[in-house]
Amino acid sequence: MHNTNLAVENHAHDLGQRFIQLFGGSPRIYQAPGRVNLIGEHTDYNDGFVMPAAIGFCTRVSIAPRHDRKLVIHSENYSEQVEFDLDRLPAARARHWSDYVIGVVQMLVRSGKNLGGANLLVDGNVPLGAGLSSSASIEVAVGYALLDLGDRALDQTELDRTEIERPKDDRTNIDRTKLALLCQQAENEFVGARCGIMDQFVASHGEHGKALLLDCRSLEYRLLPVPGDVALVICNTMVKHSMAKGEYNQRRAECEAGVRGLSKHLPNARALRDVTPEDLEAYGRELPDVVMRRCRHVIGENARVLQAAAALELGDLQAFGNLMRESHRSLRDDFEVSCSELDLMVELAEQAEGVYGTRMTGGGFGGCTIALVQVDCVEAFKRTVQEGYERSTGCKPEIYVCSAADGVGRLA
Ligand code: GLA
Repeated sequence: MHNTNLAVENHAHDLGQRFIQLFGGSPRIYQAPGRVNLIGEHTDYNDGFVMPAAIGFCTRVSIAPRHDRKLVIHSENYSEQVEFDLDRLPAARARHWSDYVIGVVQMLVRSGKNLGGANLLVDGNVPLGAGLSSSASIEVAVGYALLDLGDRALDQTELDRTEIERPKDDRTNIDRTKLALLCQQAENEFVGARCGIMDQFVASHGEHGKALLLDCRSLEYRLLPVPGDVALVICNTMVKHSMAKGEYNQRRAECEAGVRGLSKHLPNARALRDVTPEDLEAYGRELPDVVMRRCRHVIGENARVLQAAAALELGDLQAFGNLMRESHRSLRDDFEVSCSELDLMVELAEQAEGVYGTRMTGGGFGGCTIALVQVDCVEAFKRTVQEGYERSTGCKPEIYVCSAADGVGRLA
């Protein structure tokens, strides 16, 4: 723990120095995490249930105010700097990394926030296009940074502090749920991806050692402890999922078609959340086969999330793992968002010792799987999966051993 703090402290110091090199002036530094979803896939935009956890990969935003109305944004990942005038912000996306920043700025302005000019240094280590929500982590880090900067004058001496602590919400007064909604809106309306609320919500509300059971309709949530002797092992197929936006939007449309079809019999059904397995049994026959299967996945998955939450609370990891397996089968066969590489990764993980359960995670069509693995079996797991995957595909996968991490906060 002590070493981790030291590493964080050093990194914050390096970022501060880099900022001074680029812009001069001492910044405040914020970070927001990526996420992995344990169970509850493609349920968020159906008003359903999800169970993500924040992970150690994150985006860091260093920021200091300017005296003019400019936003100067430097991306360390793309080695590129862009400049915007707050009074002439672009109305549409440019298909550029800065869209995620400007989208959030636009939504803050639209919500009535009075923003001043600022210099921003953006630096992240969330793998891109891997389904670990790098975009939500940028949005939430930027949103939180701009809100916090707006709230109080910058104290130039703060960079010299040696102790790194996460300031409490009551110090910042930032409503994390509103922040998540605003960032989702930026992604929906500015970036043009019709994502649900899961990623931005867990980047905002995540907690160390906890998964989050979220009701995506009411936005009520419960923190569930992840047992300390279990590692969240994320296996990256290295297949980028970035071309899958069309498929994602199509799945959403198919779910909406399902609700329209079923609402003839169920006038109170606003979303698939409101449809029970019995309802689908009774009326699903009238739906086109594809739409019926999409509905069957979502309705079954919602039930699985609630069962998984109960299992986790009882510490029954075998039961939790079995639900993960069912989730993967349903995503593969009914929702059809898996791919051969994800299926292979799941099969390989199943062969390793000490695995409670495994499934694809995130939107699908590439990206990552998640496995719950006994901590003392992790090294052997990595070997088995790495070798097997490379042998079958010729491609070396990346494997990340994670634990549940904190949501957005101020680092320095
Ligand atoms: C992406 C979206 C989320 C969610 C998942 C699928 O990560 O951003 O809102 O829909 O896919 O569960």
